[in-house]
Amino acid sequence: MTIAKKIQSSIKNSSLIRKMFEEGARMKAEIGEENVFDFSLGNPNLEPPPKFKDVLLDLINDPVPGRHGYMPNAGFPETRQAVADFLSRNNRAEFASGDVVMTTGAGGALNVILKTIIDPGDEVIIPSPYFVEYNFYLDNHQGIPRIVPTKNDFSLDLAAIEDALCEKTKAVLINSPNNPTGKVYSEEELSGLGRLMEKAGKKFSRNIYLISDEPYRKIVYDGIRSPSIFDIYNESIVATSFSKDLSLPGERIGYAAINPAISERDIVSSGMILSNRILGFVNAPGLMQRAVPYLLDVSVDISPYQKNRDILCEALERFGYRFVKPQGAFYLFPETPIKDDVQFTSILKEENILTVPGSAFACPGHIRIAYCTSQKTVERSLPGFERAMRKVMKKP
Ligand SMILES: Cc1ncc(COP(=O)(O)O)c(C=O)c1O
Repeated sequence: MTIAKKIQSSIKNSSLIRKMFEEGARMKAEIGEENVFDFSLGNPNLEPPPKFKDVLLDLINDPVPGRHGYMPNAGFPETRQAVADFLSRNNRAEFASGDVVMTTGAGGALNVILKTIIDPGDEVIIPSPYFVEYNFYLDNHQGIPRIVPTKNDFSLDLAAIEDALCEKTKAVLINSPNNPTGKVYSEEELSGLGRLMEKAGKKFSRNIYLISDEPYRKIVYDGIRSPSIFDIYNESIVATSFSKDLSLPGERIGYAAINPAISERDIVSSGMILSNRILGFVNAPGLMQRAVPYLLDVSVDISPYQKNRDILCEALERFGYRFVKPQGAFYLFPETPIKDDVQFTSILKEENILTVPGSAFACPGHIRIAYCTSQKTVERSLPGFERAMRKVMKKP
């Protein structure tokens, strides 16, 4: 073997989500796209808002030369300023362009942040279930994940987090609205977390960062608001993107933003800019960066997602599935009626329904249903969900 042992083993154990996605492609080729109910990947089915295309056409026709060259590693100054102004409008703090680094999606932002703050062996507390790419991202920077399960309703278990905070803790990494649960952490929970972290920071005499991964921030239902961590905890950094709320995951555009009240603001910012460069990103995609200032207050119409959520929740409850109703993102995370979640995904696959086992999110005994699909897919899948439940309950 010529490649690194670590990558060899990662390939072997790599994402159950991707495996399902690939299985879906195979099944679609075999039995037709319309007969496969693919809830495996969080790939938004909605088209980007029309304004996105209008803005792109204007940008492409812009006659000013030199638009496609290198730029500062943090991104175009006017884009960073527009994002800073947007953040100032939506938070209590006043942001400057230096607080923003444009990145290749939220995944890029997380890697930039982790590279900037992690020393080898530093621990990062992650409430589970969680997006398991975090394990790879932490490993990239020799950080150690410290997984702390959430409560039964997927809210933060503050007592467990308090127990996990120690002299090695460098950060707590949260994701709200959450993938895979759809949970939105409340202001009260986040304030409680902030207080714990402040106390721990003093006790262990070190900065403990709160990293908030929030690409689903604008996808919330029933009038709920996703609270701002900037207003809650000073040592905070947000990683986000336009992948989900503008349906642009393939365009790889996002940003990292630091709290203006963070300690050593300039050093953190300089570290992130350097990290963006030396991770090989160099800078976030230029054309997308130029589009961002026109799109900050725009998002896809999320009502089709809410409709899908409601249809699924109503039907699955009727069939006997147990779950916490999601408040945001586009995922439902029901308990499996049998203990073995991988086996239950196979039973669903017999109904041509593709879901991801909870094990892929460090939470066995569940499945994740990504309902960012057409309403027709949701509706046509329902009899299969019912049959799968009957099968394991041994009902005719
Ligand atoms: C919780 C979470 N964080 C980060 C990402 C990565 O987002 P991006 O495509 O913007 O890199 C995803 C993508 O599904 C996600 O679910």
